[in-house]
Amino acid sequence: MSATKSVRRITIADIARMYQDGERFATITAYDYPTARIVDEAGIPLILVGDSLGMVMLGYDSTVRVNIDEMLHHTRAVSRGAERALVVGDMPFLSYGVSLEESVEHAGRFLSEAYARAVKVEGGVRSARTIEGIVASGIPVMAHIGLTPQAVNQLGGFRVQGKSTESARKLIADAIAVQEAGAFAVVLELVPAELARAITERLSIPTIGIGAGPHTSAEIQVITDVIGLTQGYTPRHARHFGEIGSALADAVAAYRDAVVEGSFPAEAESSSMETDVLDEVLGKGELDQLDDSYAIPLDRDL
Ligand code: KIV
Repeated sequence: MSATKSVRRITIADIARMYQDGERFATITAYDYPTARIVDEAGIPLILVGDSLGMVMLGYDSTVRVNIDEMLHHTRAVSRGAERALVVGDMPFLSYGVSLEESVEHAGRFLSEAYARAVKVEGGVRSARTIEGIVASGIPVMAHIGLTPQAVNQLGGFRVQGKSTESARKLIADAIAVQEAGAFAVVLELVPAELARAITERLSIPTIGIGAGPHTSAEIQVITDVIGLTQGYTPRHARHFGEIGSALADAVAAYRDAVVEGSFPAEAESSSMETDVLDEVLGKGELDQLDDSYAIPLDRDL
């Protein structure tokens, strides 16, 4: 009898329980299979396949450029790598909010085609009806308010939200709206720590901060910022917990040098054959025949 280890998947009920028990937790983004495995094995309970994918992995200048096929492709890879964590797929720009029907259909694709267990939607009051509709169709939704990068053109840049009386009131209203719409958690991005604390105290769902200070229920970070793989600008709210970018550069340079100087591949990294087999082949002139049969005819259309 084979003993297959079965791992229980974290659900939104587990996230709610952790929140109710006052258990602060770390969440993070991932975009591919090997990283998802590492994150999962580290015991991170929730992985977001963020549309930050576009900027940190695909080289776009904005998350607005990411489309649903790219998101589904990467979410599938993460779902294959994460056995235990709750995988949340980030709905890209205009894949929701145009019509409720389309929003539900696109959210559903994250579950049925990419094996995510929930989706994330940006926007507070403006997205409340969309969140309600998606939740009503049986799909858990994580909300995202504060600095919502898909609306960066409207917000006038990547700046802290909620600093004025009016925008702080608006953020509190956004938080309450997404909770009432049925979101199981809400990301607070680039919000003053004091306001994030006030919102956290007023809600009965977990707040997940990024650039929102230490008083939220949980934290989320973009993985390239955490591991030191970000190309160019690292936001103020991020901290490198490793330097994978320079480790990668060192490894590639060492590989290049070893090939050039002839120390790689060495005998241990090569395979060999019986010399009499090769002698026989070479001796009988079969090699020439082989060469002929493998030659590509010049008139063949490649
Ligand atoms: O896309 C993303 O990575 C995000 C996080 C910053 C919350 O939305």
